[in-house]
Amino acid sequence: MTEYIAKAPTDEGYIDYSDVENQTWEFLYKRQMAAVKNRACDEYLRGLELLGLSEDSVPQLPDVNKSLRQETGWEVAAVPALIPFGRFFELLANKRFPAATFIRRKDEIDYLQEPDIFHEIYGHCPLLTDPVFAKFVHNYGKLGLNASKQERVYLARIFWFTVEFGLIQQTNSLKIYGAGILSSIGETEYSLESSKPERKPFDVMIALRTPYRIDIYQTVYFVIKQFEDIYEAMDSSIINKIHEAIELGDFSPTFPSKEETKAKDHHDC
Ligand SMILES: [Fe+2]
Repeated sequence: MTEYIAKAPTDEGYIDYSDVENQTWEFLYKRQMAAVKNRACDEYLRGLELLGLSEDSVPQLPDVNKSLRQETGWEVAAVPALIPFGRFFELLANKRFPAATFIRRKDEIDYLQEPDIFHEIYGHCPLLTDPVFAKFVHNYGKLGLNASKQERVYLARIFWFTVEFGLIQQTNSLKIYGAGILSSIGETEYSLESSKPERKPFDVMIALRTPYRIDIYQTVYFVIKQFEDIYEAMDSSIINKIHEAIELGDFSPTFPSKEETKAKDHHDC
């Protein structure tokens, strides 16, 4: 359940954000710009430049859409904080990226579990200007639209380990392309510089069999060489691979269970 309420746009698609909300955007934007400058992949940084997002106020969706449409034909669609899987895939299949329009409160400035407008626009939109990445997400949406409930659970793992938490090897250094990382100040550094997580080459079958938790820093990151890797993986054979993955079963989690984390937190107090 969310405590946040999505802000409704006007008929023209504009949203009236308060001064405090605009200040929150400005703070997050400036802090994150410094963090991603040498850590985000080239395609993401190029996309940021193309979008020319406003620094001191929450960007308005019609402005973002103008650039996105021009580059790849994508758009961002304002949605309530949480939407059903079916609606999510339907939007992606129509080259519309769902975006919750609220922005986090100051007491959750460093971390919140739900995606807010900073995550959606700053995290996701720059890469949607990249033609190969944009085609990958489009195909993902189309395949998800026709998938069963169970198959969608496995497709969500691919989304998680790529669109949200993917790393990419570029000219001798590891870079970030996942939006979940690029909108998180802590994980931006952790994903590349910490010795704790595993970083392994992207492999569809391994990713499909790897469970994850949404409320902790990731314990596994998958590394691609180029966006063609995930684009090529996202064809109709993915559904057969999902069934193969179900047959083979999940790998053991490399993270503690929620109960173990809670017990540890309690002990640390
Ligand atoms: Fe996201």
